[in-house]
Amino acid sequence: MSPQAWIDGQPDDCLPVDDRGLAYGDGLFETLRVREGRPCLWARHRARLLHGCRVLGLPVPAAERLDAEAQEHAARLGEGVLRLTLTRGSGGRGYRPPQAVHPRRIWTAHPLPEWPSAWQEAGIELSLCRTRLSEQPLLAGLKHLCRLEQVMARGELPEDCAEGLMLDRSGRVVEGTMSNLFVRLDGRWWTPALDRCGVAGTVRGLLLDRGMPDGSPVAEHPALTLDALFSAEALLVTNSVIGAWPVRRLAGVEFEPPLRLCRMIRQEVCHPCAQD
Ligand SMILES: Cc1ncc(COP(=O)(O)O)c(C=O)c1O
Repeated sequence: MSPQAWIDGQPDDCLPVDDRGLAYGDGLFETLRVREGRPCLWARHRARLLHGCRVLGLPVPAAERLDAEAQEHAARLGEGVLRLTLTRGSGGRGYRPPQAVHPRRIWTAHPLPEWPSAWQEAGIELSLCRTRLSEQPLLAGLKHLCRLEQVMARGELPEDCAEGLMLDRSGRVVEGTMSNLFVRLDGRWWTPALDRCGVAGTVRGLLLDRGMPDGSPVAEHPALTLDALFSAEALLVTNSVIGAWPVRRLAGVEFEPPLRLCRMIRQEVCHPCAQD
């Protein structure tokens, strides 16, 4: 079944063939969790989108209009997932952006994916992806539309595999194919710095700003190696739809899954009432 879709405020699911998002990946997107008719972590999603617009030189959409649309679509959906895609719109000669840019705003509404409950309750196996992330500091942190590396990495994994871990070309640990990674080493929580590649996740940002819900601090790690990961005390992955999944195995090596902490992240942080 195709998702419910709106383009530039109108119900519509047909995109012009010259849309630059389709042609070149020229745009940005946000995927947000909706609970009780409200968008979770909306302020952080909006901030990342607007920051991405400034970096890519896209006209920055009015925050009030985005707010109103997010609330309206979330209220209609009730429970599920909303995606907002913002492209540079139509046209231009080849790669060169058109002189007058008319960005295109696409909202789609989706049911919550059905994942095995064991992934939350007992932890996931994190596989190691062969596909590496290329380093591009200019685009690092953005949720832009060019996601071929993630598509290739995800394609390596069996369908029943929860998530894959990605390294950059220098062998540094970066993130999951669709999530950010947190690692406990010597009693402290770390998440890889994302100054060369990776998506600066909304849940990641919240945990960095506020610390873990059990009070433990979180910091960015400049260069996390796979060896360091194998000696970790605990691992977890986060994104705005799953909240947090505990890791019980990484590439065949067993870990104690941080079940309680992940439950706290899902309940307290990824909730429409959470102050983001
Ligand atoms: C590659 C990648 N990294 C990280 C994330 C986590 O971002 P967020 O917490 O905003 O969902 C995502 C989310 O889909 C992602 O696709």
